[in-house]
Amino acid sequence: MTTSVEGQFTGKAGLVTGASAGIGEAAARMFADRGAAVTLVDIDVDAGRRIVAEIEAGGGTARFEGCDLTDPEAVKRMVDGAAKAYGRLDFAFNNAGITGSVHPTADVPLEEWEKVIKLDLTSVFYCMKYEIPHLVAGGGGAIVNTSSDAGTQAVAGIAAYVAAKHAVVGLTKSAAMEYAAHGVRINAICPGATKTRMMAEWFAASPDAEAAATRSIPLGRLAEVDEIAEAVLWLCSDAAHYAIGMAMALDGGLTLGPAHPTG
Ligand SMILES: NC(=O)c1ccc[n+]([C@@H]2O[C@H](COP(=O)([O-])OP(=O)(O)OC[C@H]3O[C@@H](n4cnc5c(N)ncnc54)[C@H](O)[C@@H]3O)[C@@H](O)[C@H]2O)c1
Repeated sequence: MTTSVEGQFTGKAGLVTGASAGIGEAAARMFADRGAAVTLVDIDVDAGRRIVAEIEAGGGTARFEGCDLTDPEAVKRMVDGAAKAYGRLDFAFNNAGITGSVHPTADVPLEEWEKVIKLDLTSVFYCMKYEIPHLVAGGGGAIVNTSSDAGTQAVAGIAAYVAAKHAVVGLTKSAAMEYAAHGVRINAICPGATKTRMMAEWFAASPDAEAAATRSIPLGRLAEVDEIAEAVLWLCSDAAHYAIGMAMALDGGLTLGPAHPTG
C-alpha cells in the first residue's frame, strides 16, 4: 500500500528559516507543494522573493520575510508576523546556519566564534522562544532544528560550528521534554554532506576534500537536498506523532563509525 503525501499539509501553516538556498529552500518548496502555507525566512531577500514568486506561480501559498536571525527583536517580529499572516503556526523548520572559517581552536578569531555561535545556536533559541507560545496556543505542532553530523561527532577546524551543532541537539532534547505534554513535538536533524552552496564552499578549500568526504560515506555519495527535506516534512507531519527529541542522522552512514576491513 502506498500512502499519498499530496495535500499532506493542506490547512497547515509554518515557517522555514534559511529558505533562500539549499536545504531550507528545498523544504519550503516541498511544504508548499504538499499544501502548506509557508513563510520563507532569510537574510537574502532577492533569492527569497524569487522562490516565493515561483511557488505562487506553481499554485502554492507562500510569503517572504527578510530577517537577520541573530537579532532577537527581528526574530520575534518575524515569528509573530508568520503566525498572523495565515492565522496559525503549525510547524517551524529552524534551519539557517553557517560553517565559519577554518582554524584550529586556538586560532579561531573571537569575532568568528561569536558570529557562528550567534547564528547556529542562539538564533535557534530565539526562534523556538517565539515559536513555542504560538504552537502551544494552537494546541500543538512541530519544530525541527537543523544540527549536523558535526552535532554528534568532531570535525577538525570548525570548533565553533561543532560546538553550536552539538548544543542544538541538547537544546532540542530539553525543549522536547518540556513541551511534549503541550502537543509540541521538537526534533533535530543531523544531515551529513549535502549538495548545497555551503558544501561547495567547503569542498573548494581543498582539492581532495570532496573525494575524501565521499569515501567516508558508506552510501558512497552526498545527499540531495530533497532527501533531507523529505525527513523534515515527515517530522512535521502527523505521521511522526510519537517522535520527539530525536537527533535524526541523515548522513548516508557517515557517523556510524570507522569502516573496518573484513579481512
Ligand atoms: N550542506 C551540508 O552539507 C550540511 C550538512 C550538515 C548540516 N547543514 C546545515 O543545514 C543548514 C542549511 O545549510 P545549507 O547547506 O542549505 O546552507 P546554504 O548556505 O545553502 O543556506 C543557508 C541559508 O541561510 C541564510 N542565512 C545565513 N545567515 C543568515 C542570517 N543571519 N539570518 C537569516 N538567514 C541567514 C543564507 O542566506 C542561506 O540562504 C545549516 O544549518 C547547516 O549548518 C548543512
